[in-house]
Amino acid sequence: MTSLSFTHRYEPALTGGLPPLLLLHGTGGSEEDLLPLGRAISPGSALLSPRGRVLEHGMPRFFRRLAEGVFDEEDVKRRANELADFVAEAREAYGLGELTAIGFSNGANIAAAMLLLRPEAIRSGIFLRAMVPLSEPPAVDLTGKQVLLLSGAVDPIVPPENSRRLAAILREANAEVYAQALPASHGLTPQDVSLSQQWMAKDAQPKPL
Ligand code: MLT
Repeated sequence: MTSLSFTHRYEPALTGGLPPLLLLHGTGGSEEDLLPLGRAISPGSALLSPRGRVLEHGMPRFFRRLAEGVFDEEDVKRRANELADFVAEAREAYGLGELTAIGFSNGANIAAAMLLLRPEAIRSGIFLRAMVPLSEPPAVDLTGKQVLLLSGAVDPIVPPENSRRLAAILREANAEVYAQALPASHGLTPQDVSLSQQWMAKDAQPKPL
């Protein structure tokens, strides 16, 4: 592992022409967690998977929260900027093109915050069980950015209204958003994987390295 500002795993691409993936785990996860999901969603993509630097009772996260679903928004901003800086470092160190973020839960929330605050960091994102990360989102133009938002219709952590609000915020900023509520709770289901695969395949053009 190259020494960069976040502990991370990096797996080189197996196939050319596919976007590299930025994998962002949920609370209590690690840089190992989403490697299999990344491989399943876009086999052949390079994988960049950092570990969140905030610890909540020993559990890694990407930003501080005050309670379940109540975020320390100053910390959200600071950490989203740190993560965007790491992405820039890693792109240079590993020679990567524009990344597609795949985030789950807390990882999806930091991905959404980073898209709003530092849109140059990613070209697109799959946000799984994401919430609105900032109560007053910044004015930003996300023209050309693509987002897949998959929520759970019976998710006890993310109320459906919150997912809809996130979709509206991103659309108002001109992102192209495809949002779907699945018959699911907070955990991921096979449908999350198949819809993500389909969404990725539409603009990925695999070719031999
Ligand atoms: C968060 O804190 O980011 C969300 O509540 C999701 C979670 O990590 O449980």
